[in-house]
Amino acid sequence: MGSYQPLYQNGHKPSSSPANGVGPGHFHQRTGFTWLLCTVLCLSLLHLLCSPPPASHETVVAPVLQHIAITSGSDQGKRSCDYSEGQWVREPGYARRYNGTECNVKDSENCVRNGRPDTGYLDWRWQPAAAGCRLPAFDAGAFLAAVRGKHVAFIGDSMARNQAESLVCLLGASSSSSFPYRLVYRDPEPRTRKFWRWAFPSHNVTVSVYWAPFLARATGKSEDYSMPHNTVYLNSLAERWSADADTMDVAVISTGHWFWNPTIYCNGSVVLGTHLLPMFNYTNIGLFSPYREAIRMSIQRLIGSGRGGAGRTVVVATISPAHFEKAWNDPTTCARTEPYKDGEKEVETLAAELRRIAREEADAAAARSGGDGSGETRVMVLDVTKLASMRPDGHPGVYMHRDPFARGVPEQLQSDCLHFCLPGPVDTFNEILLQILTKNQ
Ligand SMILES: *[C@@H]1O[C@H](CO)[C@@H](O)[C@H](O)[C@H]1NC(C)=O
Ligand SMILES: *[C@@H]1O[C@H](CO)[C@@H](O)[C@H](O)[C@H]1NC(C)=O
Ligand SMILES: *[C@@H]1O[C@H](CO)[C@@H](O)[C@H](O)[C@H]1NC(C)=O
Ligand SMILES: *[C@@H]1O[C@H](CO)[C@@H](O)[C@H](O)[C@H]1NC(C)=O
Repeated sequence: MGSYQPLYQNGHKPSSSPANGVGPGHFHQRTGFTWLLCTVLCLSLLHLLCSPPPASHETVVAPVLQHIAITSGSDQGKRSCDYSEGQWVREPGYARRYNGTECNVKDSENCVRNGRPDTGYLDWRWQPAAAGCRLPAFDAGAFLAAVRGKHVAFIGDSMARNQAESLVCLLGASSSSSFPYRLVYRDPEPRTRKFWRWAFPSHNVTVSVYWAPFLARATGKSEDYSMPHNTVYLNSLAERWSADADTMDVAVISTGHWFWNPTIYCNGSVVLGTHLLPMFNYTNIGLFSPYREAIRMSIQRLIGSGRGGAGRTVVVATISPAHFEKAWNDPTTCARTEPYKDGEKEVETLAAELRRIAREEADAAAARSGGDGSGETRVMVLDVTKLASMRPDGHPGVYMHRDPFARGVPEQLQSDCLHFCLPGPVDTFNEILLQILTKNQ
């Protein structure tokens, strides 16, 4: 981890100035207290609604797409394997894949270092439900070979970052230690980790993460956590990732949680509606249609850009649900130490709906182009909703802080019940991503 070089090497210039990196990590709070608190502030901000949006977004529909079934491990050849349903089975030590300190994971996700006393959450393996399927363990050499010379980009909210950091750790932790890497860019405010980039020189591979929690262009809270709400422009994409879209060979879109926030949605200068901001007297637009529009627009950009999307793989990750079971500041709000058992817990309604929308949009994008096998851009689904929803035990919880009980047990303490510990269940997302990238190429 030596010196930091500019993000835009190889002549890729950003079209926008860097976002402000401020504030603590984002936590989705179901209590709704945030929007109650903001009502007063919002009224004074009315004049800021849908300020003129300059950005226009070019979309050229790609000629051909290919949507293929994900297949299982090499021993199982081309037989189709579905990893989206299954159960967690105990396998001691299976998930102790790396040391999070050595790969510099975000402090609040370094559960082992932070003193989490139980380590049983690292003893589970995802077993797909489909007969004869087994999800192979992560293989760093195979992953790097599959993306040799390529740029792997994660675009979205802090779950995109969580998965990007997992991938870097998995690639860097190879037992042969033959894949050194370095951080080649980080945003000026290192605690936020909104725009980071790593290089793996042995395979000329770049991994990067782009903060764009709505995928679309947004102002307000997502840029500055002290703001009461977001304003999102569903007619244009977030500048920084869309400016770099042509450089991406593998683009993983992973988002969802910010759509629960109080937000004004605009189309240019026209207000389409609001979510959780009734005092503005606009139509309540909800979260599903903006989420769908953002995913759709993002896929379009990626299949239709630059080189015509040739050889690009677009991966749409479904939502990874949070597990706040009590008040957000109750120290036991996510204190479970084991996964849910098969049949113990269904995917919650809202998460199920977002999952369905992501799948529909990815499938529709693939179908529009015929999928005749001569595809230029592949659009795939990384369906992690079920496996993630069964892991209430995999979050940092109060161990987002170092040694949280060093001075006794406080009555109130913030927990992270959204991101996953590193190592942790999010590593499984990348095991499935590897299968997506290596099958039917
Ligand atoms: C992880 O690595 C750090 C730094 O090398 C080391 O101090 C720590 O003991 C390691 N933790 C474990 C659990 O091995
Ligand atoms: C590394 O990959 C980039 C494309 O991502 C390519 O332009 C460049 O020539 C490659 N460099 C080497 C040394 O292979
Ligand atoms: C925004 O307005 C344009 C022009 O009227 C229209 O074509 C487009 O569908 C609208 N987009 C959304 C998300 O409403
Ligand atoms: C919204 O409507 C209510 C009831 O008609 C009105 O009292 C209030 O001033 C309106 N608020 C705004 C921001 O226009």
